[in-house]
Amino acid sequence: MRLDKYLSKALGLTRKEAKEVIRRGEVTVNGEVIKKADYKVPEGATVLVEGRAVGSVGPVYLMLYKPKGYLSTTERDKDYPSFLDLIPEYEHLKPFAAGRLDVDAEGFLLVTTDGQLAHRITHPKWKVPKTYEVELEKPLTPEQEEKILKGVELDGKPVKVEKLEKLSESRVLLTLSEGRFHVVKRLFKEVGNRVTNLKRVKIGPIELDPALAEGEYRELTPEEVRELKKLVRLEET
Ligand code: URA
Repeated sequence: MRLDKYLSKALGLTRKEAKEVIRRGEVTVNGEVIKKADYKVPEGATVLVEGRAVGSVGPVYLMLYKPKGYLSTTERDKDYPSFLDLIPEYEHLKPFAAGRLDVDAEGFLLVTTDGQLAHRITHPKWKVPKTYEVELEKPLTPEQEEKILKGVELDGKPVKVEKLEKLSESRVLLTLSEGRFHVVKRLFKEVGNRVTNLKRVKIGPIELDPALAEGEYRELTPEEVRELKKLVRLEET
């Protein structure tokens, strides 16, 4: 990749600003000052601006605790703010959410720029389990539980529940390997109950970090990225 493009991607600069930084001689690549904007940055090179390492332009993987009232889409013209407003320093990289969460739902939003991983995490073929903590309007009856475990039909197709764990009379942990539109809410409605609070707490093997407060985020660790990739059979690059 050209050096000016590399810097504008990594630092969110316009191409003109990046060129200016390069022209001033502030940029080194593998220890050498580079003053040419069209210099081709070698794979894995160490790029410094004024002696400070420039963030990698490799894919970004963030665990964001989406609060209620935020969209999991990137549109800006809606009645609610986008999750992008919670991660302004990443916005220039154009990340998106791997799997939607309703505006009135909260919890783990996996934000990434890795299109292939996001695609596999959300595609039914890869059956990546997602776990939700669900609060219900009424206690879950044994009949309702049985119906859910048998597979409630939505859109003419049963919803396969991987796991249902009762936390109390009206709170459950529900694990599904599919992400149909409003699937959790529709599932409980279908059996005569109603979801009053929905929080995604786990995607694949990765749990929402309890250290994160609503609206906070952290990068996934390299180990977590590896686990996710392994789950959907993507090779580490
Ligand atoms: N099911 C829902 O009903 N809403 C979500 O946001 C996710 C799953």
